[in-house]
Amino acid sequence: MQNKSVKTEYYLPAEDTIFFANYLQNEKGKYVLDIGTGSGYLANVLLPNFEVVVATDINFEATQKAHDLIENCICCHSADPLTIKFDLVICNLPYLPSEEISDPSVDGMDKGILVPLQIIKSAKNVIKKGGKMLYLTSSLANYKKLLEETESLGFFAKIVATKKMFFEELILVQAVLK
Ligand SMILES: C[S@@+](CC[C@H](N)C(=O)[O-])C[C@H]1O[C@@H](n2cnc3c(N)ncnc32)[C@H](O)[C@@H]1O
Repeated sequence: MQNKSVKTEYYLPAEDTIFFANYLQNEKGKYVLDIGTGSGYLANVLLPNFEVVVATDINFEATQKAHDLIENCICCHSADPLTIKFDLVICNLPYLPSEEISDPSVDGMDKGILVPLQIIKSAKNVIKKGGKMLYLTSSLANYKKLLEETESLGFFAKIVATKKMFFEELILVQAVLK
């Protein structure tokens, strides 16, 4: 997770981005959506292996930056305005527990899972049956509760990769829509 004291207009690729990107190298399909694309780094990794790559971010500056790499960039909440169905939806979540959303790049509100759950609920509406979501959370959040809630939304959810960092463990979750 990017240092909160570093002020940028959008989230710059950090260790979590690179960890997620490495996992995405082998993903293939037709339609993919990157929610919270930031700089567009992860969406760009998916470009060679998907026919259509769509990226969203709540931060307008991020979508402007990502548009240098990704043609289909939309400034919106999660996947809310989208109607097409995707094989894969990814999101490097804002997962830090917080009282409020002062920085949408990192603030996840209650236990670091309130904003993530809003994003996962929105993603569910645009995932094909049998399609999946990959999301990145952390030991700094109540990730066990997030997995439980993901399952209760109708996914099979499991941890597929982890990475120990100095102050947290990164946790990559695969959620397959039943
Ligand atoms: C941890 S950053 C990840 C950025 C980029 N995907 C990466 O891996 O470097 C989370 C991103 O999600 C965006 N975001 C937060 N809440 C969002 C929401 N409800 N809908 C869309 N984007 C959101 C933030 O603006 C930020 O760009």
